[in-house]
Amino acid sequence: MTARIGHVAVVGAGAMGSQIAMVCALAGHRVTLTDADPAALDRARTQLRERTDAMVAKGRRSADEVAQAWARWEAATVPPADADLVIEAIVEKLEAKRELFADLDARCGPGTVFASNSSSFVPSSLASATGRPDRFVNLHFFNPALVMTCVEVVRGPETADAVAAEATEFVTGLGKVPVVLDREIPGFVANRILGAVRDEALALYEGGYADIEAIDTAARTALGYPMGPFELMDLTGIDIGYLTKTARYADTGDAADKPSDTVAALVADGHLGRKTGRGFYHYDQAGNRLGKAL
Ligand SMILES: NC(=O)c1ccc[n+]([C@@H]2O[C@H](COP(=O)([O-])OP(=O)(O)OC[C@H]3O[C@@H](n4cnc5c(N)ncnc54)[C@H](O)[C@@H]3O)[C@@H](O)[C@H]2O)c1
Repeated sequence: MTARIGHVAVVGAGAMGSQIAMVCALAGHRVTLTDADPAALDRARTQLRERTDAMVAKGRRSADEVAQAWARWEAATVPPADADLVIEAIVEKLEAKRELFADLDARCGPGTVFASNSSSFVPSSLASATGRPDRFVNLHFFNPALVMTCVEVVRGPETADAVAAEATEFVTGLGKVPVVLDREIPGFVANRILGAVRDEALALYEGGYADIEAIDTAARTALGYPMGPFELMDLTGIDIGYLTKTARYADTGDAADKPSDTVAALVADGHLGRKTGRGFYHYDQAGNRLGKAL
């Protein structure tokens, strides 16, 4: 726990926020997890209980450590005014996030640091909704946050050096590995690299140079990737990358940001990957891969 950041508020109790809150509680912080929807808080509590029970059962944490983390954890429908750090993890909609930060700015003391877990909105696009752009960073956790070690610490143009340093120290204190971006750029580092690999794989396929199985095999056996780009798109959901690229294209107008024809056609046909039983590959009911679909 850093000297200054004691109490952390996490806003948004979905897939990311719930686990980020437990990461903080396990690292010794007092945590308030908030969500506008009380049912989301109930779901988060149940799922986190299952996860912390499993940690104890597998010997990764002691029962005492977990009990202490739960004693530091609370749920609320309204964010507290006295947190040292607020981490926002609500729906990926710019106006909803800006509204939330404007409201937090009015409620929280001047010392509170604001952070967004957004995957695509850069700090300056959110910090400008507050009167404290110097006390704003993105802290981009990866899914599942209880497991993945990387956290990107993204500085906006107005982020104070001391705030960036404090946020980085906070991430280290969570037992995570901070990756600091000195300048903001949409997509940050990890997802941009992933996107470049995915785009090249699609270009090779669309150019008729190799089929999807060959490209996935090269990524696994030559580059040591745990799965190939097409296998990964099927796993995460083809619509997710499509929506990210569509939003970025609307923003930049850059042809390089436009979703590929192959991806657009799959999304239009409802072939979104494992979750629909078909994407680049076919899957059975249990999610086992059967063979290529393209
Ligand atoms: N899912 C991922 O793999 C992933 C990875 C990294 C970052 N992110 C980012 O994390 C954020 C959250 O993603 P998620 O997948 O956890 O979303 P989610 O849909 O699972 O959860 C969002 C939660 O926010 C709540 N919410 C919405 N508006 C709110 C408001 N105004 N006030 C309070 N609560 C509100 C909803 O009730 C919901 O429970 C997004 O910005 C996303 O880009 C997601």
